[in-house]
Amino acid sequence: MTTTVTGTEQVTAAEAADLVKVYGSGDTAVVALAGVTVSFPAGQLTAIMGPSGSGKSTLMHCLAGLDTVTSGEVYVGGQALSELNDRKLTELRRDRVGFVFQQYNLLPTLTAEENITLPLAIAGRKVDPAWFDAVIGAVNLADRLRHRPTELSGGQQQRVACARALITRPAVVFADEPTGNLDSHSSAEVLAFLRRSVTELGQTVVMVTHDPTAAAYADRVLFLEDGRIVDELAEPTAESVLDRMKLLEVAAHAADDSAGSGGSAAHDPASI
Ligand SMILES: Nc1ncnc2c1ncn2[C@@H]1O[C@H](COP(=O)(O)OP(=O)(O)OP(=O)(O)O)[C@@H](O)[C@H]1O
Ligand SMILES: [Mg+2]
Repeated sequence: MTTTVTGTEQVTAAEAADLVKVYGSGDTAVVALAGVTVSFPAGQLTAIMGPSGSGKSTLMHCLAGLDTVTSGEVYVGGQALSELNDRKLTELRRDRVGFVFQQYNLLPTLTAEENITLPLAIAGRKVDPAWFDAVIGAVNLADRLRHRPTELSGGQQQRVACARALITRPAVVFADEPTGNLDSHSSAEVLAFLRRSVTELGQTVVMVTHDPTAAAYADRVLFLEDGRIVDELAEPTAESVLDRMKLLEVAAHAADDSAGSGGSAAHDPASI
C-alpha cells in the first residue's frame, strides 16, 4: 500500500482497500460497503456524493476508525487500522483524525475556544500558538472565542467544530454533511474555511455532501451507489457535478429496470 512516498508520487492521507461493511447477518444483512478501494491524497479536498443509503456515512466512519469493518483494510497516514489495539486506535482517532458532524456536536458548557482546544486538553498536549492563530484566522472567529455555543449562529458553531477538527493537525479531516443544517450564507462560510484549510494550511479534507455547489469547492468528487464507487470527477463545477448526477441517475434506473424487482442487498428500502 502507498504510505509516505517521495519524489513525484503523492502522499496518501487515508486509504481504503477493498472495504466491505455488512450490518446484521442472515436475511436481514445490509451490505453498506461492497468493496471500496480509494485513496485520498494529502493536501486535497475530496467530496463524496451519492443517494441516501449509498454508504457515504459508513465509509467515513470506517475510514475514521469510528466503526469496524467486515473485511478489507483502512490506512490513515500509512498506518493500517487493523494492526492497532483498542488503545492505539483511540490515540489515532484522537491525534490523527478530525471529524465534523452535521449537528456540530459542541459541548454547551465550554466556550468556543475551550471546545476548539478540547482534543489537545484530552491528549495532554500543549496548544501550538502559531497553529492556533492560523486556524482561528482561517475560521474567522477571533472575536467569538469567549462565547458559548448557544451564543453562536449555526454557521459559527460549525466553524468552531471545523477548528476543533483541525487543531491537532490531523492526517485527515472527515466532514459528514457539514453544511446540511446551514443556510446558504453560513454554508458558504464553512465551505470557504474547509477550502482554506486545504489550500493555505495544507490539510486534507474528505466531505460528504448532497449539494453540487458544495461539491464544487472540492478538488475531486467521488460518487457512491449501493456501497460502491461508481464514478469520479476532477476539478468539479456545480454544473458538471449536476450533469454527472443526472447521468448516474439515468444509469441507475436503467440497471434497476433490467434487474427486475429483485434489487440489491445494499438498497435501503426506506429510500425507494
Ligand atoms: N447501524 C446500522 N445498522 C444497520 N444498518 C445500517 C446501520 N448504519 C447504516 N446502515 C445501512 O447501511 C446503508 C448505508 O447507510 P449510510 O448511513 O452509510 O448511508 P448514507 O449514504 O450516509 O445515507 P444518507 O445520505 O441518508 O446519510 C443503508 O442501507 C443503511 O440503512
Ligand atoms: Mg449519511
